[in-house]
Amino acid sequence: MLRRIRQQSVKRMSNYTIRIAENAGFCFGVKRAVDLAESTAAKYGHCCTLGQLIHNETETDRLKALGVTPVDTPDEADGVLIIRSHGVAASVIDYIKSKGIRYIDATCPFVAKIHSIVSKSDSAVIIAGDKNHPEVQGIVGHCKTDRVYVVQSEEELENCLDELKAFGENALTMVAQTTFNSAKWQSYKIIAKKHYTNIEIFDTICNATTDRQRYTEQLAKEAELMVVVGGKNSSNTKKLAEISQRHCPVIFTQTGECIDTAEVQSLLCGRGGIVGITAGASTPAYIIKEVHRIMSEILNDEDIDFMAEVDKTFKKVYIGNRVKALVVAVNNNEAVVDLGTKHSGYILASELSQNPNAVPSDVVSVGDEIEAIVTSINDADGVVYLSKKKVDSVIGVEKLAAAMEANETLTGEVTAVVKGGVIVVSNGTRVFIPASQTGVPKDGKLEELLKTTVQFKVIEVTESRGRVVGSIRLAKKEANDAAKAKFWETIEEGQKFTGEVKSIESYGVFVDLGGVDGMVHSSELTWNRIKHPKEVVSIGDKLDVYVKSFDPEKKRVSLGCKKPEDNPWIKFMAEYSEGDVAEVTIVSITPFGAFAQIVPGVDGLIHISQISTERINNVAQVLSIGDVVSAKIIEINEEQNRVSLSIRALKEDAPAEEEAEEAADEE
Ligand code: F3S
Repeated sequence: MLRRIRQQSVKRMSNYTIRIAENAGFCFGVKRAVDLAESTAAKYGHCCTLGQLIHNETETDRLKALGVTPVDTPDEADGVLIIRSHGVAASVIDYIKSKGIRYIDATCPFVAKIHSIVSKSDSAVIIAGDKNHPEVQGIVGHCKTDRVYVVQSEEELENCLDELKAFGENALTMVAQTTFNSAKWQSYKIIAKKHYTNIEIFDTICNATTDRQRYTEQLAKEAELMVVVGGKNSSNTKKLAEISQRHCPVIFTQTGECIDTAEVQSLLCGRGGIVGITAGASTPAYIIKEVHRIMSEILNDEDIDFMAEVDKTFKKVYIGNRVKALVVAVNNNEAVVDLGTKHSGYILASELSQNPNAVPSDVVSVGDEIEAIVTSINDADGVVYLSKKKVDSVIGVEKLAAAMEANETLTGEVTAVVKGGVIVVSNGTRVFIPASQTGVPKDGKLEELLKTTVQFKVIEVTESRGRVVGSIRLAKKEANDAAKAKFWETIEEGQKFTGEVKSIESYGVFVDLGGVDGMVHSSELTWNRIKHPKEVVSIGDKLDVYVKSFDPEKKRVSLGCKKPEDNPWIKFMAEYSEGDVAEVTIVSITPFGAFAQIVPGVDGLIHISQISTERINNVAQVLSIGDVVSAKIIEINEEQNRVSLSIRALKEDAPAEEEAEEAADEE
């Protein structure tokens, strides 16, 4: 009878087209949990889920038939226990572990992200959501603090904020249940910000829900009738019915068989158009397929390939695809990404970056939109593995080739020492630097470059093989050449430098002025008399020098080092005049006399004829180096910085002074 009615309806209603809303049915979190339960039951013959995996009786019955049994407490589990996508409190996991129960955590990565946020928050936590929902109960059970509030209305939020203020709480963290109404969430955020400036708000509503709602609304606006498929208890399916009802009549059904042909006929006026199908997050694809088949029979829609229709609503991925992905969770081993498909996307740490020393959180953060290449797909488990480093490498090789064209110098980190050279990672790409191009001497250790940041030039790119060769030595040479050119362009007499002593010769020292060496003559090193520059400087010393003269043609720079204010001649002139007597130290003996230090840096000559009133043939018979004697300053030649001393003059002066003293006594 039912069949006959449907056939009759064919004649009247064949001008309707059935369309399935994008993102209808399982979200990836639920699909992942169902797939894990199915594969576990297939492996062990049976498994349990802590609570119903999904709010759909038909699907629950199907899973039961496959050996997946829901239990209310961990103690009831008689096999591997699956934690459903809603997640559970941390204490539940601790209990399961303490009892040695084997379990698989199928908590959706979006929910796990909320667990991670609240478990780190020291401040009070507000959760926008339904306090009776298992997901919210799980979130509460991950909060570090006991100041946790679940709010479901604006009024509850206002009351909670007032209470927190009264308790003197000055910081807050606010998250939302993944399926929370996004319009309500926006208004919660405004209210919370009005009360609290020190509040951290995390947008934790899952896109899968909002996208499903958006696509449902788009389709409902065009449709003459919407068929909403899902469990009567499923809040997200009820929400889809509510949204659809704003635009057209709705049939809310749990399965295809429940659809009443008469109801469809009564709701459609027969003038043709679109009939839409959407489904809640807990509705498996085969139920949507069944609904589609029944509706096609009622409406006599063209013989449409259902799976092709369903497939149209899902973004597809293939191995080798370069896809955009949203990072939804990051842990020590991998990043979990949302591809906008039914799959769960995983990028292992080793596929995130070319740098083997990088941990996932160094490379990506939750919320980042990244590009990655699909490396493998496991449709049975709904899992896709991707590689970010492969995309980075392709983009990087292009950038490095462009840098070579433009003769750019690049920066990168040395990540490994390999046979014949080192590996530098730059722009997400491995660059091989041959040992001869590292700038490390033959007897040096390449390991010293590890984990350092270096500058290099690209010298060879084979794009087809993704092979890039670089040279640190070339980059250094170019930098040196540029520094030298700038030096000769800007050098001036009197210019001051602080340079490192590179080598020491008997006549002076060479100082590195930044790629160019200048020479300080030994007489310019110090005001004191020295025999060898080593007496005052060592290799590696830093010297303050100034340019005395330079020759750009011959690339020579002559430097001075002595400071005028330290000039001992000035000190000497301030202290002594001709006729003064000084205590001097003999510093050298010559055939024509002896040199004596008057003050450090100023020596005077005691000519052989000025040593004694008697004739002297050999100075060394009278004076020795180191002797301290009194001498009279008999001449100062300022122009030539020369001083003449005399011991004899003191002896000649002595009788005259005695006579003068005697004359004075007689008077
Ligand atoms: Fe996860 Fe979003 Fe589904 S939170 S379980 S993917 S609705």
